[in-house]
Amino acid sequence: MSKLSELAVNGGGKAIGFAFKGREQFNEEEKAAAVRMFDESIRSGNAFGYNGPEEEAFGKEFATFMGGGYADGVNSGTNAVYVALRALDLPPFSEVVVSSVTDPGGIMPIVMLGCIPMVADTMPGSYNAGPEQVEALITPRTRAIIIAHIGGEPADIEGIMKVAAKHKLPVIEDCAQSHGAAINGKKVGSFGTYGAFSLMFGKHFCTGGQGGAVFCNTEEDYWQERRAADRGKPFNMPGHTNVIPAINCNLDELGAAIGRVQLRKLPSIIAGKRRFVQLLKDRGIGRLAGIEIPELLPGAEHVYWWWRLRVNTAKITVPKEEYCAALVAEGVPMNPNYSAALPFTFEWFQNRRGKFPWNNPEYKGDAGIEFECPNAKAAMAKHFNLTIHESWGEKEADAIMAAFKKVDEAYRDY
Ligand SMILES: Cc1ncc(COP(=O)(O)O)c(C=O)c1O
Repeated sequence: MSKLSELAVNGGGKAIGFAFKGREQFNEEEKAAAVRMFDESIRSGNAFGYNGPEEEAFGKEFATFMGGGYADGVNSGTNAVYVALRALDLPPFSEVVVSSVTDPGGIMPIVMLGCIPMVADTMPGSYNAGPEQVEALITPRTRAIIIAHIGGEPADIEGIMKVAAKHKLPVIEDCAQSHGAAINGKKVGSFGTYGAFSLMFGKHFCTGGQGGAVFCNTEEDYWQERRAADRGKPFNMPGHTNVIPAINCNLDELGAAIGRVQLRKLPSIIAGKRRFVQLLKDRGIGRLAGIEIPELLPGAEHVYWWWRLRVNTAKITVPKEEYCAALVAEGVPMNPNYSAALPFTFEWFQNRRGKFPWNNPEYKGDAGIEFECPNAKAAMAKHFNLTIHESWGEKEADAIMAAFKKVDEAYRDY
């Protein structure tokens, strides 16, 4: 039989004959934390609430993980971005430069606050926006920058901070996918005014099904963020009534209790993801004809929410889509096409003309501006995202490599 006809995509047997196990994030420790909360509620006769001791401890522990500073729990990553932006208290119709590759939750808060997203292309070959792409969009109306660190890979935040300083703009780092990633030893989320984290169940660590956190370096920014996260309550401002209109984005005590346990596991979760990537490297994934491992920025420490790999179509006989479809058919856990992370191409954004806030006469910029983002689209066309779970080991690495080798040998351009 030819190598081609042996491929699962062509009707052959699958290279991977077992179901991959889950991440196994929760065990008796999270359960005990939740039971403790219920036991205490039953004992006291009062349901657990929010803004209590668990969240306070969670905030302190997360700030310690970040290298010092302040942190507040919120109820999603979207709301972490929302709260951080609300805390900046921008004038309506401010332009906010935002990464092109992100989740809808990383861009929609801008619109919900009556501001205008300006969508920055990525650096060539990357999923992350860089200083040049950000600076190209700065106008006299720009009031903030939101930079996502995508997939666990740090953006060039040092370069972006220089651009921000030059134009005197605050930066929000969207770290929803990059808990613990660092550049030159400094954690992402600690460079900008605020770091916004998603803590939903699929992230490096979680507070349960949904959750988030906002990190900052100064006490002043912290209290401003707390007010923005809880209907403008006058935290640390005795003698005031509520000071700004804002919504309720609080994390609750149960989520905070679970998050504290999870946070203790975060270093080993990150280590497990790195270990699994190393197992694949040791088995030669980077030496396959069709695979290129993208270079990281100098000093970057990747935390592999997943692993972005590039398909080298010059060395194989099929387009990227076919190579990836064959890998999927063999049972490789991966996302072959990450264009779901280009929210500026979606209907709500494409159909924005004539709608608030773009249609308001107070907005003096170009409401019809097109964002092409050719680098971001090219990056989607060349890469796929390989799933990396910290619970996986030699067995999973062997199986994934067997599938890759099978596909690569069938499609290699000899
Ligand atoms: C970059 C980015 N920003 C924001 C969010 C929104 O987070 P959440 O789903 O917790 O609202 C996500 C979610 O995956 C994300 O990946």
